Amino acid sequence: MGKKIRIAIVGCGGMGGGHAIAIQSGTGNAIWNGNNLDVPGFDSPMTTDISKLLELAGIQDIDPAREEWARERGMYVYKDLDEVLADETVDAVLVATPNDSHKPIAIAAMKAGKHVLCEKPVMMSSADLLDVMAVSKETGKVFYPRQNREWDEDFMTIRRIYEEKLVGEVFNIKCRIMGSRGIPGDWRGIKEKGGGMMLDWGVHIIDRIVAMVPEKIVDVFCHCTYITNKECDDGIQVYLKFESGLTVNLEVGTCHFVNEPLWCIYGDTGSAMINSWAMDGKMVLLKSWDDKDTTPILAGAGLTKTMAPRMVGTSTEELPLPIPEFDWNTLYKNFVDVCNGEAAQIVTQEHALRVLRLMEACFESDKTGEVVHFEK
Ligand SMILES: NC(=O)c1ccc[n+]([C@@H]2O[C@H](COP(=O)([O-])OP(=O)(O)OC[C@H]3O[C@@H](n4cnc5c(N)ncnc54)[C@H](O)[C@@H]3O)[C@@H](O)[C@H]2O)c1
Repeated sequence: MGKKIRIAIVGCGGMGGGHAIAIQSGTGNAIWNGNNLDVPGFDSPMTTDISKLLELAGIQDIDPAREEWARERGMYVYKDLDEVLADETVDAVLVATPNDSHKPIAIAAMKAGKHVLCEKPVMMSSADLLDVMAVSKETGKVFYPRQNREWDEDFMTIRRIYEEKLVGEVFNIKCRIMGSRGIPGDWRGIKEKGGGMMLDWGVHIIDRIVAMVPEKIVDVFCHCTYITNKECDDGIQVYLKFESGLTVNLEVGTCHFVNEPLWCIYGDTGSAMINSWAMDGKMVLLKSWDDKDTTPILAGAGLTKTMAPRMVGTSTEELPLPIPEFDWNTLYKNFVDVCNGEAAQIVTQEHALRVLRLMEACFESDKTGEVVHFEK
């Protein structure tokens, strides 16, 4: 194991505050799983104790209320960014400010000799990320995109189903993130601050699909919604077509009072569905294709044989979701290993660049109403 990395958090709001507690307690991402130090299994292969890897040097925030919050929890509070950058005991900076300030903070930190773990969306544009990547190269400092939702239980399960071909050759995937509260009433509703749901949730669901499917994306179509907010997109509907013909429908909505399933994945020998983050769902596998004829069922005012459900047990079998075991703190751990020169980045800068370019293609499609031929 390499040296412990001393990290300072810049921006200690909802996310930065979460990181501060996560690092101080060692629980890391496990705190968002309802897991904590009292739970057996902490510091196991599934939940590395990150207090052995990371040490919280302190936090810095422009809001006195957040400074007070940190002091109350025994954290050191830097007076400004210059003090963070001048602190020679600080190895790394975690950037958790609103999206529009990630770039100057990340660049200043790397130029001051600090590694950077940067919240998503890492930058407001692919051009900004190219500038930051150049500084990372020039300074030799790590710039790590915090695309943590690649280690969410729901996505890990879908990834397993896809990669192990548990439902055969996958031809369509749907992921829908739906709420009914509009855009939060903070900077997320202000365009120039990096607001909008594409940069908030869109980046996560696009990131995960791009990380999972090792294929070129040929076509992109996107429609953004402005139902509850005129300035920023409060929802996105994205359609991706991959080189093999696989299609992916991604949706983020904030004006949905009933929800569709979080995930559906369809293959030629089965389907699976995850209904919600509570991980309720199932996998249905085909037992006998031959058993496809049946007696018609009533469908509205008519009959249908084509759409009649199959018999569970004879024609299909239902299985529980194949939830895999994984370390909730993989990203934090990988960041530390990369800083110590002991591993390659799992979430690479090039990957983050492709995600940003894909989001730009989505905005272009929304603006023109046309399909963008992304990697043709
Ligand atoms: N990875 C995830 O799952 C996830 C979840 C939530 C938020 N985020 C990301 O984290 C970042 C912060 O989001 P949030 O929800 O914590 O927002 P927030 O508004 O709750 O917190 C932002 C904090 O940054 C402070 N701040 C603003 N400008 C600053 C500056 N120049 N220097 C120092 N502090 C500054 C604010 O005072 C505030 O306390 C965003 O980039 C967001 O996209 C990521």
